[in-house]
Amino acid sequence: MNTDPLDKLPAILKKDLDKNLCTCMDVPRMDIINAIVNGATTLDAVKKETYAATGARCCEQEVERLIECLTGPEPRRRGRKWRK
Ligand code: FES
Repeated sequence: MNTDPLDKLPAILKKDLDKNLCTCMDVPRMDIINAIVNGATTLDAVKKETYAATGARCCEQEVERLIECLTGPEPRRRGRKWRK
């Protein structure tokens, strides 16, 4: 069964997919999501694949959050589960 990887993301992380998540390096959010879905499942792998988070590293946390949501068994947030 094919599932849309975006279904794993909370609504806030699905906004503005075509806009830059990494403004330092001009990398759109969707490019980062695609890299993660296609196997770049660590921050270093995403950096290597997309150059995101290689500028001032200001978007590292957001990239890590995407990795966690897209690769983890279940999204988590300090004891609370994400609502769909
Ligand atoms: S916004 Fe990505 S490194 Fe600064």
